[in-house]
Amino acid sequence: MIGAGNVGATAGQKIAERNIADEVVFVDVVEGLPQGRALDMMESAPVEGFNTKVRGTNDFSEISGSDVIVVTAGLARKPGMTRSDLLDKNASIMSGVSEHIRKEAPNSIVIVVTNPMDIMTYLTFRKTGFDRKKVIGMAGVLDTSRFRTFVAEALGMYPSQVTGFVLGGHGPSMVPVISNTSVGGVPLTQLMSREKIEQIVQRTRMGGDEIVNFLKTGSAFYAPASSIYEMVKSIALDERKVLPCSAFLDGEYGIRDIYTGVPVVLGSGGIERVLELQISQEESTALKGSADAVRKDVELLKEHKHL
Ligand code: NAI
Ligand code: 2OP
Repeated sequence: MIGAGNVGATAGQKIAERNIADEVVFVDVVEGLPQGRALDMMESAPVEGFNTKVRGTNDFSEISGSDVIVVTAGLARKPGMTRSDLLDKNASIMSGVSEHIRKEAPNSIVIVVTNPMDIMTYLTFRKTGFDRKKVIGMAGVLDTSRFRTFVAEALGMYPSQVTGFVLGGHGPSMVPVISNTSVGGVPLTQLMSREKIEQIVQRTRMGGDEIVNFLKTGSAFYAPASSIYEMVKSIALDERKVLPCSAFLDGEYGIRDIYTGVPVVLGSGGIERVLELQISQEESTALKGSADAVRKDVELLKEHKHL
């Protein structure tokens, strides 16, 4: 776990407590932070009943031999800040982190969380030179989880019975795929009015901001950590789950040379397959528009000499 802040520590805790890794190593630039968090977590093992070793360090060479690397290093948003405001600062951090990963853990699968996530994942992909299967962005699971939560709440139904995908970039242009959403197998459009669905779509798009506005000094971390855990588990246990993740597209959905959220099969090799859903014309246009928004920020990254 590179970055032992709110998201990194909470995700690491879930991974350790649920025994899906031999070892969780926290790496952070702040002296004492990863060590303190790791020791505190380790001391919960007898009570929680886990056997995972947890270690903290400021030394990046200790990522050597990692199977999965989760990057949450960087700044989080404050109220009024967009994800794109974070671009320059986090791009510098991610360039340094990518270099460590390339040198120390060339066989790892990398999950990028740091915002603006789709752009930081693109940067990591380019800087590490890894295969596209092995550099994956996390947000789709989170955005979909938010969408599922709001749908379940509105219908008074069980959240995990709501299935569907939120695709596209992790930002206001994200695309909840209504044509594919159902509750216990019943299409959402048969259960809810178009107006109510549209309200939920808008709330989902602003889901991150809603939390930032409450917390004021940071951004969401419980649901992001659960989403990271879901991805790490699918890789570590080779579950081959279909999860919405930010993937490098090479023509799929008519999109090329950009990272954006699409359903993928996630297994021990990373992205085993990108699944091309049959989506409506309107959703397809929205997905391309969302990818274009990511592309604009990638261009900015190039203008600012990060690439
Ligand atoms: P945080 O501020 O609690 O933690 C970030 C940690 O990164 C800090 O401990 C900091 O010392 C560390 N750090 C900074 N530079 C570093 C470097 N070069 N190497 C190693 N560690 C370094 O922030 P939080 O809440 O954990 O969020 C982390 C990132 O994840 C932010 O960019 C945030 O916007 C993003 N995020 C993305 C989500 C997504 O869906 N993709 C969801 C939630 C957060
Ligand atoms: C979120 O959606 C901050 O991107 C983060 O909560």
